[in-house]
Amino acid sequence: MKIGFIGLGIMGGRMARNLLKNGFNLVVYNRTKDKSLPLLEAGAEWASSPRELAKKVDFLITMLSTPEVVEQLAIGDQGFLSNLPHGSMWMDCTTVHPAFSRKMAALAEQHHIRFVDAPVAGSQKPAEEGQLLFLVGGKREDVVFCEPLFKAMGKQHIHLGDVGKGAALKMIFNLLLGEAMLAFSEALALGLQLGLEKSTMLAILLEAPITAPFLKDKREKLENEVFETEFPLQWMQKDLQLASISAYEQGLALPALNVIKEVFAQAKQHGLAEEDFSAIFKFLKK
Ligand SMILES: NC(=O)c1ccc[n+]([C@@H]2O[C@H](COP(=O)([O-])OP(=O)(O)OC[C@H]3O[C@@H](n4cnc5c(N)ncnc54)[C@H](OP(=O)(O)O)[C@@H]3O)[C@@H](O)[C@H]2O)c1
Repeated sequence: MKIGFIGLGIMGGRMARNLLKNGFNLVVYNRTKDKSLPLLEAGAEWASSPRELAKKVDFLITMLSTPEVVEQLAIGDQGFLSNLPHGSMWMDCTTVHPAFSRKMAALAEQHHIRFVDAPVAGSQKPAEEGQLLFLVGGKREDVVFCEPLFKAMGKQHIHLGDVGKGAALKMIFNLLLGEAMLAFSEALALGLQLGLEKSTMLAILLEAPITAPFLKDKREKLENEVFETEFPLQWMQKDLQLASISAYEQGLALPALNVIKEVFAQAKQHGLAEEDFSAIFKFLKK
């Protein structure tokens, strides 16, 4: 089996590296070629476009930024979908909304390609250490077929049901992540205005049961106000926007989500797009 990997950003580069480490035969493509160089040195083969990559592989993984980019690379000029051999597998690990996964699965089927949505929980470090959690939607036999790859890149995969269910749970993960990050940032900002010491607040609040456990990992960033990127703020804004679209599609009102997503949108407009999403604290403090 020859694996194609498209999208070598913070997550994809590290996931692809783990496939190489586990002995998989890998062909890679990334818009910015520089990011592929360490992988090429480690034995991966380069393809000059998604289209060229598709001709060389029978299993494709995409780990891209947004649904729009996935669609563009799938069916746009130089797209991969019409160039993969019939019967190939496409695993999309990008965080997208369920309706989009279902649309991609339908397009893939038209091209005789199998499809699973397999977004991941876990950030840069778990990606590097092969400790991601894959949230998977698709046909059982397809998910079983993908198992060796999940094992090479992650600690666990959970099959949640048909296509779109992986995307659905991942979106819910990030809804909680974004809302908790913003709630904590607001609390901290108010505490500072009231004259409390930041380090004291962090020490007490991060040990309290009212605080989401992941926030402990953000302590250093909040303390030093240096928001080195693990999960870019612009992708958090995208995920909250996608959750809002999904809620609209379901006729469900989610008022807090719809306010919070706009706070992330404002922070993005104010130049924080590429910083870690915890930089929302810096934005609020201003
Ligand atoms: N970082 C995390 O902690 C984390 C965790 C779980 C899930 N995710 C999700 O995983 C996905 C990737 O995240 P990431 O953190 O790895 O982001 P990233 O570092 O920004 O990588 C994004 C990837 O998409 C490519 N891309 C963007 N726009 C493109 C375009 N117009 N044409 C072609 N390629 C394009 C980038 O290419 P270039 O290199 O050329 O820019 C890069 O390969 C996102 O959906 C994100 O929500 C991220």
